[in-house]
Amino acid sequence: MRIPAFGYEVAKLFANTSARYHVFVSGRSSETAKQATASLQAQPSPRGTYALELDTTNQSSITNAVKEVGSLFGRLDVLVNNAGIQPTNSGLPSQLRQCLETNTIAQIAVTEAFKPLLAKSANLRILFISSTVGSVTVRCDPMNMSYHGSATAYRTSKAALNMLAACYAKELKDEFGAKVWAVDPGLVATNLTRNPDALRARGALEPDTSAQTILGLVEGKRDEDVGKLVHKDGVWLLVRGVWVETGCRISILLGSK
Ligand SMILES: NC(=O)c1ccc[n+]([C@@H]2O[C@H](COP(=O)([O-])OP(=O)(O)OC[C@H]3O[C@@H](n4cnc5c(N)ncnc54)[C@H](OP(=O)(O)O)[C@@H]3O)[C@@H](O)[C@H]2O)c1
Repeated sequence: MRIPAFGYEVAKLFANTSARYHVFVSGRSSETAKQATASLQAQPSPRGTYALELDTTNQSSITNAVKEVGSLFGRLDVLVNNAGIQPTNSGLPSQLRQCLETNTIAQIAVTEAFKPLLAKSANLRILFISSTVGSVTVRCDPMNMSYHGSATAYRTSKAALNMLAACYAKELKDEFGAKVWAVDPGLVATNLTRNPDALRARGALEPDTSAQTILGLVEGKRDEDVGKLVHKDGVWLLVRGVWVETGCRISILLGSK
């Protein structure tokens, strides 16, 4: 049985939504990408899905992936930077290096490498799959359900990713008219912690529910939230305009939809 993963459900939703979408399903190896793509192509209404080998921490793999997408379509309209890990190393410095490498630096490397294809889009949207636990405000709020967990290295890498998304939102808007978000998929029952059932017991959503948030962003339903850390029902405040030393108790949910 396929282990549920958020990225796979996003690809499935787009492939099943409209023939307008041509979806590259990437995997660290060509075998995993091909397996996931074959499983999507077995769906009742399979549309354009393409397997793409892409190890986001390997520059030559990134370069090859850019060449492949470029040779098939010549442009890229939507980039969903989804790859992420929880650390397996021990000791905080080593865990942080591991998390930053995959959860933050690799996202930059992929986005920078795809820029020539992204620049050709007339409706460019870039999503960084992040997490509420990367919000400094949430970390400081004992009333928040995410306050009690630890995961310092993971949180720090996602906090950096949130800032990266905010910087790209400004810079790529100026450069290419891009719309950029950091996206919190919510607590989702996947293999991220290597125990989806334990996540379900904590009330995790199934990945297909979270995938709807991505479709909404791509289809223009959240354009007013560009540059923010968005989730299914609203926006998480990062630290924008707030002096955190004294502002830990401010309301964090800015609006619900
Ligand atoms: N699950 C949650 O509750 C939750 C909550 C907030 C945010 N998120 C974020 O959501 C995203 C998706 O995670 P998930 O929950 O679906 O976990 P997951 O099932 O573990 O999926 C993570 C995916 O990232 C891929 N990946 C890791 N390193 C990679 C690399 N160097 N190159 C290419 N692919 C790589 C993994 O590939 P392999 O299969 O080859 O390992 C896997 O397919 C992550 O960014 C995660 O931080 C998840």
